[in-house]
Amino acid sequence: MVGEKRIIIKNIGMLATPEGGTAHAGDAQGKIRILKDAWLVIDGERITAFGEQEKEGLPAWIDCFDAEIIDAGNRLVTPGLVDAHTHLIFGGFRQHELELKLKGASYLDILAAGGGILSTVRATRQADLGELTEKALDELAVMFAHGTTTCEAKSGYGLDRTTELKQLAAIQQADAKSPVDLVPTFMGAHALPEEYKEKRDAYLDFLCTEMIPYVAGKKLAKYCDVFCEDSVFTAEESRRILQTARENGLGTKIHADEICSIGGTGVAADVGAVSAEHLIRCTEEGIQDLARGGVIACLLPATSLYLGADYAPARDMISAGVPVALASDYNPGSCPSANLQLVINLGCLKYRMTPEEVLTAVTLNGAAAVGKAQEIGSLDPGKQADVLIWDAPDLNYICYRMGRNLVRTVIKKGKIYD
Ligand code: NIG
Ligand code: FE
Repeated sequence: MVGEKRIIIKNIGMLATPEGGTAHAGDAQGKIRILKDAWLVIDGERITAFGEQEKEGLPAWIDCFDAEIIDAGNRLVTPGLVDAHTHLIFGGFRQHELELKLKGASYLDILAAGGGILSTVRATRQADLGELTEKALDELAVMFAHGTTTCEAKSGYGLDRTTELKQLAAIQQADAKSPVDLVPTFMGAHALPEEYKEKRDAYLDFLCTEMIPYVAGKKLAKYCDVFCEDSVFTAEESRRILQTARENGLGTKIHADEICSIGGTGVAADVGAVSAEHLIRCTEEGIQDLARGGVIACLLPATSLYLGADYAPARDMISAGVPVALASDYNPGSCPSANLQLVINLGCLKYRMTPEEVLTAVTLNGAAAVGKAQEIGSLDPGKQADVLIWDAPDLNYICYRMGRNLVRTVIKKGKIYD
């Protein structure tokens, strides 16, 4: 195409990608396209073609005139990773809680004692917009270097108008400054703020009559999420919040069955949520809810690792035809890591997912969980050129090696970052 920069990646040892523009479930989750000795062409910001090399290398018909040629040196190439669940914007960290945890305090004990989410709420209220944005950009740079090219980001550490809007503004500013594309989610229902302790209905009214209509009207978020959990928000409260969000034109997501199973999956199915997240305690009935509602199960294995909790029943979900996405849950309490390569390892080791299923989970299904499966999440021609070249010969290698950054080159919207 005239005027557009062309990039050709040649000598790809293995090109591995799911295909299509919707989430993949059941057997299809593990069916990906694998090409050996492959090439891939990018024109401008889009992928335009890929294929297998001939004996002499690139097929002669590929127009290399003026193209930038990258020699992948027989390495693995995949789509960029999509992190469909993060709490990216927050003040401070909570390293002091590690000691409490080691002495036996549970996640909900710490929250009930005014720590946990509520202590991050205090720190986030104190931080200004510039600080929150810089902190997010610092983490995004590391995430990008580890292969994350799109990332969902939730508010929910403000729990008041000013701070929730400040968090959403920080997401917007970080999105503009970082190569990582951000998808904003409003999560004012992350916890009951201390000042509403005795008047929970008033907080729900505030969210439903003021915040959700305002956030939706100003297009500050694409999704609304709620922490449906024992001693946080009940299933009926969650339903009210998500129904209001839907009526106001927002997509919906739900933190369900993280610590206790209290009916969040049924709410997800009823309100047409794009995804239910965590699902550590998801029951057989809960899995049926997800299947009935066409809800993506967004699983967060690094949180199970960090909390010392069980792992969500990923295999049962796949057997039931529920599409599984894997994400980081990056946050200062239950998962202080945004490394999707660790999530890839845990997907295989703890969920017993195959490397192929895991790849779909961190690319196409993650993209579907943020409503972008038509644009990203695979290497299909026409999609945005978000591409990774790994320091790895094949897909098994990145699932098997641990603790070392294996991403060598990130290409984001057709721009190369070595
Ligand atoms: O997804 N579950 C709720 N929210 C986060 C934890 C937030 C925090 O502890 O600060 C999570 O695990
Ligand atoms: Fe979360």
